[in-house]
Amino acid sequence: MNDVFTYGGVAEGENFTDREDETRRLVANFEHGVNTLLVSNRRIGKTSLVRRVRELVDGGKVAVVYLDVFDCRSEYDFYNKLASAVLRQTATKAEALLQNVRSFLGSVSPKITLSPDPTTEFAVSLGLAPRECPPERVLDLAERIAKKLKKRIVVCIDEFQQVGEFPDSLQVQKRLRGAWQLQQHVSYCLFGSRKHLMTEMFQNRSMPFYQFGDAVFLDTIPAEKWIPFIRGKFRKQKMSISEEVAGRICEAVRCHSSYVQQLSWLVMLRTDREATAETVERAVEELVEQNSALFMQQTVGLTSTQMNLLRAIANDLHDGLQSKKVLEEYNLGTRANVGRIRKALVDRDLVEIRENGLYFCDPVFGLWFRSRCM
Ligand SMILES: Nc1ncnc2c1ncn2[C@@H]1O[C@H](COP(=O)(O)OP(=O)(O)OP(=O)(O)O)[C@@H](O)[C@H]1O
Ligand SMILES: [Mg+2]
Repeated sequence: MNDVFTYGGVAEGENFTDREDETRRLVANFEHGVNTLLVSNRRIGKTSLVRRVRELVDGGKVAVVYLDVFDCRSEYDFYNKLASAVLRQTATKAEALLQNVRSFLGSVSPKITLSPDPTTEFAVSLGLAPRECPPERVLDLAERIAKKLKKRIVVCIDEFQQVGEFPDSLQVQKRLRGAWQLQQHVSYCLFGSRKHLMTEMFQNRSMPFYQFGDAVFLDTIPAEKWIPFIRGKFRKQKMSISEEVAGRICEAVRCHSSYVQQLSWLVMLRTDREATAETVERAVEELVEQNSALFMQQTVGLTSTQMNLLRAIANDLHDGLQSKKVLEEYNLGTRANVGRIRKALVDRDLVEIRENGLYFCDPVFGLWFRSRCM
């Protein structure tokens, strides 16, 4: 990680750009108790946006609790994480936290550990189990604390698609929605990195979280916003980059947030005074190379017809993939077969269905595929 361009972590402070509209919308949702469902492709900026909004909301009226449930494998893993985040992030002192446990969770004996991390004074682990603490009680915890604090609470849950992978997931989702939609003082912001799983949870009518809140689709940051951002960073290092060359960086990675920052860094590393278009070209090759092992791993085990469909997309065929001509030219088998291949590739987050056809989710994967797999 470097202090010029950030990628791989969360963008904050001077490394955060744009998102004015989305920030305003989320701040309003948070302050007025509207649930939010935030969806985007990978590494576009969901986590960074939510963390930014958390800094901006009026702390006198709203307490924002943030948790990442990536490592939760079951309903009670989730409850433990949820309850400790709510307790920990709504109390500044261990005594206040303990009192909340006693008043709202009953016969639970939490373990409080002094954290080696100086930014957090203590950590809490609850060890909740179904017998001493039924789901309803855990799910009501935030509401009861909010009433006590006379503040709204917004619970932001990152990697929420994980809940869709629990044993009995549908029942868990029903339980969560059932409890959450009755709450008056707590709202939720749910988001996660597996776009197609998140979309399935929120947009499928038969799923419990269907239309649970304001659905925000986070798009890429436009080049007009990236260009001054990139140029400013170069200026700070006493280097220059023209509008046109900065525009090439954006274009090469289709304005994808994480890649714009990574590619800009690779260009900066190769620049002495002024960045050139040739430098961008070489940096793009290096970017592809750096990601090559990961992409290779993502294509391991794909069948030959799945690879053939990717080849068609790489040749800029996006719709009409079931036409006789394309089926024959790319050896895709029958029409029904194309439907199955498409589903398999969408499930792997390799391609996505847009209004006008099928596209690669990841623009750099597209570059890699064109140069190595055709
Ligand atoms: N508003 C922004 N301004 C500048 N760069 C950004 C912004 N948002 C995201 N980025 C870039 O994208 C990277 C990924 O951001 P972030 O982790 O927030 O995305 P995400 O959508 O949560 O990713 P994932 O899908 O992996 O959960 C950051 O490290 C940064 O390089
Ligand atoms: Mg994220």
